[in-house]
Amino acid sequence: MERIQEALAKARAQRQKGGAEPAETPVSPPSPQPQPQATPALNLPAVDENWAALAPFKLNRAHLQKNRVVAAESGRDAVPYDLLRTKIIHQAQTNGWKRVAIVSPDMGAGKTTTVANLAFSFERQRDMRLLCIDLDLRRPSLHKILGQAPGHSMSDVLDGHVRFAEHGLRLGNRVAFGLNNSPAPNPSELLLSREARSALERVEANYAPDLMIFDISPLSASDDNIAFLQIVDCAVIIAAAEATPMSRIDNAERQVAELTNVMGIVLNKCRYPSEAESYDYYY
Ligand SMILES: Nc1ncnc2c1ncn2[C@@H]1O[C@H](COP(=O)(O)OP(=O)(O)OP(=O)(O)O)[C@@H](O)[C@H]1O
Ligand SMILES: [Mg+2]
Repeated sequence: MERIQEALAKARAQRQKGGAEPAETPVSPPSPQPQPQATPALNLPAVDENWAALAPFKLNRAHLQKNRVVAAESGRDAVPYDLLRTKIIHQAQTNGWKRVAIVSPDMGAGKTTTVANLAFSFERQRDMRLLCIDLDLRRPSLHKILGQAPGHSMSDVLDGHVRFAEHGLRLGNRVAFGLNNSPAPNPSELLLSREARSALERVEANYAPDLMIFDISPLSASDDNIAFLQIVDCAVIIAAAEATPMSRIDNAERQVAELTNVMGIVLNKCRYPSEAESYDYYY
């Protein structure tokens, strides 16, 4: 915990040194601070070729169903994820945000399940390019939920040993995954490194995604995400209904708001949902 507090203090000092306003206690909805990414000159035929060259995702519907990837097929179960997708698109387009981190105060709130479901929900929409990247480098699990066994890990892409072209898995024509096959030995250092930032920029330039969604570790687990949250445009906080106390959600919102924009809070695993399924949203 102390390490996290120290890292937060350092991040806060850096933001202030850089001339940024100190973050205020967030209110809902938080005031947007658009940080549009520099748009590289795009060679669109090359981008299409890059997408086409990615290895296809191996679909195992029974495995997905067992792991609560209910949005793999359209229908009633997919509705909450389709709604979340639409809200994310709206917020991202309104604010010019492209990099979206999915974070939670504590373990097990449903981040990875949400990311997996969003990928299928975006794939059905077919008009946006989406990259779903597992950057929970300590306890990666997106590959397990999706039933994939990648030969490399995103840590190999971030440290420049493997190109995303050799690693990414394409779902349909416009969604791709960057998965892991094992934990990385040095997640904090890697996520902080210049190589990792450049590698992500290269992926962005080569695949021109409209959105990049990052599954990251919970705030309480480590300080990995404190470095990483500073280079995304916004974060969605996932909280588990009846498991995450309100004070933990408030605290997480404050921590995240010091590092990036809070896009919204998703209350997951609601037993008595207001909508069709076990989701509720606060934006
Ligand atoms: N909407 C939901 N309703 C019921 N169970 C859910 C829901 N979303 C996720 N779960 C279950 O909660 C457990 C944790 O989910 P998941 O691994 O997605 O969480 P996480 O936040 O990524 O965890 P970690 O912090 O360990 O990475 C899993 O067993 C998953 O099937
Ligand atoms: Mg997870």
